[in-house]
Amino acid sequence: MNRITIKDVALAASVSISTVSHVVNNTRFVDPATRERVLHSMDELGYHPNYLARSLRKGVSKTIGLIVPDAANLFFAEIARKIEDYGYKQGYSVILGNSDNDPEKQTNYINTLLAKRVDGVIFISSGGEVNDLMRFSESQVPVVVADRDVPLELADVVMLDNEQAGYDATRHLIELGHKRIACITGPHDLSPSMQRVEGYYRAMAEFRLPIDPQYITAGDFRFLGGEQAMERLLTCTPRPDAVFVLNDMMAIGAMTAIRRAGLSIPADISIVGFDDIELASAVTPSLTTIAQPIAEIARHATDLLIQRLGGSRKDENQRVILQASLIKRESTGRKQ
Ligand code: RIB
Repeated sequence: MNRITIKDVALAASVSISTVSHVVNNTRFVDPATRERVLHSMDELGYHPNYLARSLRKGVSKTIGLIVPDAANLFFAEIARKIEDYGYKQGYSVILGNSDNDPEKQTNYINTLLAKRVDGVIFISSGGEVNDLMRFSESQVPVVVADRDVPLELADVVMLDNEQAGYDATRHLIELGHKRIACITGPHDLSPSMQRVEGYYRAMAEFRLPIDPQYITAGDFRFLGGEQAMERLLTCTPRPDAVFVLNDMMAIGAMTAIRRAGLSIPADISIVGFDDIELASAVTPSLTTIAQPIAEIARHATDLLIQRLGGSRKDENQRVILQASLIKRESTGRKQ
């Protein structure tokens, strides 16, 4: 079957090829009646512009790649939604790649996005191989690294002050009178997890509270991982009276385990999460958590990339560090 071309559309709509091109690329005003006639002909003929050919010709695709570690995690779903919104409003389409915390899949997505000639990439690492990142440097495609630090020199960075946030979460529990405070961490190789644990240690040390090694257990930033980590903590003797969980998905899983053990939140165990995903305020009891400025992270990452793409910023890489805030809800209470 012969592919429908721009020439076929021009003939059908009785306009020039350049008029069809201007309608497709929105590159100059075309009167509404003519525009409507061209669009009608495109529909009738089933014409689909070859955007890859256009990007090869023009050197730009007006497309941004976004790689996230886990699209099922509401934190990444919310950040992806914001990035797509900000990018679209500035004339860019966003292609989402979910690496599913799998370094091999992450490599495949990096290669796929580069092959599709995206103009730039916003990259949230799933951990794993550093040489992945060299593909970006080799390709000269601008990259903004968000949320998780990676050793990539040629990139702008948008991060959270995770250490301070971890300190604030732990101090909140200490100020409620808790002393046996456990911590469910994320994957150890990820910078946000390491930094939040450092904040936990700093708060415990500042208030001269001993840390029982059995009270620090690793999760995987997922619901089931949080539930299983909490089950381990509930076998500890003495049982912890509070727990700082390094993201909300795991905290909600931990709450399930606490309730299954017949215990009450916060009367028996206070719990603090991290991210402030929309679900945090909807669960019962509502989750005290650290609110990440999700919209601000998305806006900074998108703006930094589009400024670089538009040529308005050729300076050295920028490193933006944002602050989180403690949101007190029902899942934490005074030690009884
Ligand atoms: O919920 C996923 C976690 O991993 C978040 O805390 C985010 O910071 C990311 O690093």
